[in-house]
Amino acid sequence: MDNAFVDKAKDVLAKDTSVVPEFWQKKYKNEANKNWDKFYNRNTTNFFKDRHWTDREFEELRPGHTFSEEKPVLLEVGCGVGNFIWPILERNSDIYIYACDFSPRAVDFVKTNENYTEARCKAFVCDITKDRLVDTIPPHSVDIVSAIFVFSALPPEKQAAAVANIVEILKPGGRVLLRDYGMYDLAQLRFKAGHKLEDNLYVRQDGTLSYYFSTERLHELFVRYGNLIELENEYVVKRLVNLKKSIDSERIFAQAKFQAPIDAGDIEAAMLGTKLSGGYGSAVPESYKTDGEESEILVD
Ligand SMILES: C[S@@+](CC[C@H](N)C(=O)[O-])C[C@H]1O[C@@H](n2cnc3c(N)ncnc32)[C@H](O)[C@@H]1O
Repeated sequence: MDNAFVDKAKDVLAKDTSVVPEFWQKKYKNEANKNWDKFYNRNTTNFFKDRHWTDREFEELRPGHTFSEEKPVLLEVGCGVGNFIWPILERNSDIYIYACDFSPRAVDFVKTNENYTEARCKAFVCDITKDRLVDTIPPHSVDIVSAIFVFSALPPEKQAAAVANIVEILKPGGRVLLRDYGMYDLAQLRFKAGHKLEDNLYVRQDGTLSYYFSTERLHELFVRYGNLIELENEYVVKRLVNLKKSIDSERIFAQAKFQAPIDAGDIEAAMLGTKLSGGYGSAVPESYKTDGEESEILVD
């Protein structure tokens, strides 16, 4: 990924000048919950695969990583049917996991999974853009919040409210781990005219939304609005190879870590905003066998 690629991507996007009419924009945004619920009605638990890559990318998810003397507590926002949480529960015998999603059907799938046990996890229905997490989770009690391909499903004007909601349950020093679609990802470049709501925001065939993040937008959301400290914020380029499906493609993701301030000095640093740690130039292509992310290609 280099400047020539970025220029070409910009050209492709500039050609798509039409936007979805306002009536439909409102409908897709208002009915996001219904459309995701229908998605899980159609696909049940078969769409995404368990995400076994997460502790390779985020050391906080590895067994033995300590935050304090207490057992670690994690909240997965937009948990779907639990593909992120099952590998973590299996590997980390100590961890307690909250998992929420605004699709009641997805949450039912989590609760009826054979790995679900109330002793180690609690799944609940919650629209993170409007239902307060503190109604279910004690304030400032969570060590890790994972946001894996969920912020892209939120309309941009509701993303800051979701950040504020998360901040209320994060412990001082607690971290947000995020991976989502990056700007100029091939799924963004492949959208045909008639799918764009605004720059970087598209609607898929099934009515679900897909936003493509710049590192600057993540910085704005979590540092400027959320007053968190930026530890990492960069594009990662992954080569996905699936021989069975004859897929060999490069995907661009935005990956970031933010931390809640611990003391007054940290708060000051957060208010000033830390420097972005990565740009396209720093992205290193990496080849690995697919572990579920290839499904993301098929949905667009
Ligand atoms: C692409 S899936 C990712 C699922 C899961 N994080 C994983 O890694 O497999 C996005 C999920 O976000 C959920 N979602 C979208 N908007 C939401 C909102 N406002 N509040 C809660 N969940 C939401 C959807 O229902 C869907 O399950």
